[in-house]
Amino acid sequence: MWHPNTQMSEWTSFDKIVKARGMWLTTSDGIHLLDGVGSMWCNVWGHSKPELLKAFTEQTRKLQHSSMFNLTNEPAEKLAKNLIKLSPGMHRVFYSDNGSSAMEVAFKIGLQYWKNIGEKKKTKIATLKNGYHGDTFGSMSVGYVPEFFGKFKNQLFPTIRFPVPNMYRIPKGHNFVDYQNFCLDKIEQEFSKNDKIALFVCESGAQVAGGVIIFPKGFQSKIRKLCKKYNILLALDEIATGFGRLGSMVEYTEQKSIPDIVSYGKMMTGGYLTMAATLTSKKIYDSFLGEFNDSKHLFHGHTFTGNPTSAAVANENLSLYQKNKLIDKIKKKSKVFEKYYAKFLELKLVGDVRHKGMLMGIELVKNKKNKIPIDPKLSINKIFYEAGKKHGIYLRTLGNIIMVVPPLAISEKELNLLLNKTVSTIKSVQNKLQ
Ligand SMILES: Cc1ncc(COP(=O)(O)O)c(C=O)c1O
Repeated sequence: MWHPNTQMSEWTSFDKIVKARGMWLTTSDGIHLLDGVGSMWCNVWGHSKPELLKAFTEQTRKLQHSSMFNLTNEPAEKLAKNLIKLSPGMHRVFYSDNGSSAMEVAFKIGLQYWKNIGEKKKTKIATLKNGYHGDTFGSMSVGYVPEFFGKFKNQLFPTIRFPVPNMYRIPKGHNFVDYQNFCLDKIEQEFSKNDKIALFVCESGAQVAGGVIIFPKGFQSKIRKLCKKYNILLALDEIATGFGRLGSMVEYTEQKSIPDIVSYGKMMTGGYLTMAATLTSKKIYDSFLGEFNDSKHLFHGHTFTGNPTSAAVANENLSLYQKNKLIDKIKKKSKVFEKYYAKFLELKLVGDVRHKGMLMGIELVKNKKNKIPIDPKLSINKIFYEAGKKHGIYLRTLGNIIMVVPPLAISEKELNLLLNKTVSTIKSVQNKLQ
């Protein structure tokens, strides 16, 4: 196999996960690892949740997969209703099977909307620097992280990018408050003179892969207002931040910024099956209606669009959120992270700790005073994976950030264990990395 985002020559073998229960993964060597990555940020209930397994097996006995081309199915219809109920301002659901595709759909819908209503000039996408929306070409173009995608720069389509207020790295001459205004002013200046901008795209509430940059209060809602003022659509990416990761079921309600388009993924099926969705307002959906030969319809579809098994599991997952009052519990549990800020910050390698809901980013620096990141040439992820394993936890870093992204339903006891072990893991490697 060829593993994702991995320098294969560095790894002679990979730990093989043979089973998982609750928050724990078990390797073929019988080692138990506490899951600090939440199956790549998507696991909600931990592993082997009986209700989800039941929904899965019951649906597979009836209908495993049937396409959405000319047909429909009951679980997908029910899920669409559930998603619309959750999402103020949204009217229709378009399914895909991973987050990158759900974002491609958002870009296509957002761009085609203007064509459908006869506004040919609006063809450009604006966004924030450092956002991440997936690994396909459109997603790389919009969520351009230079360290990841620099090699494809010439093949990516141009976008208009604005700075983001990262409290830890405010440019000289600014404070955090005036830098937010600076970023918003930059957006307004461009919006006011550029009538080609079709849509503005950003992650909702925080940039996750871009380094856990939590948006300051009011920032996203001000962007919403600017989009309205200058007749630009807003497409939000809630693939990593929605469904409770940042502490709210739908982050845009917390951010008071109802978008025109929103994408969900990852946690929608509890993290058990692959499914994503792009939701739009009625205004957008209606613009795609017309005579067949107007060609206004959306030319997009995947083999597994609307897969009934994934949808059945997603429906059960959503009902478990309600039954277990998961969002209320997350709000309380999120405070556990706060107890560890000081413990992390006193480590010589840790420059900053950023956290919201059930997401934490620990930024590692060589020199705290100058905020110099640890040497990017070092294979930081491998070092932390191996050190974490020795401490009984599964960790993955992104650049110089340790990501703590556990399953949402982790108990307070296990969360304390995970955070304590993360402290010990950093301590055990800090001499090697400075
Ligand atoms: C904000 C955001 N958008 C999109 C994606 C892409 O999702 P997928 O990996 O399912 O393609 C990710 C993945 O981490 C993400 O964090």
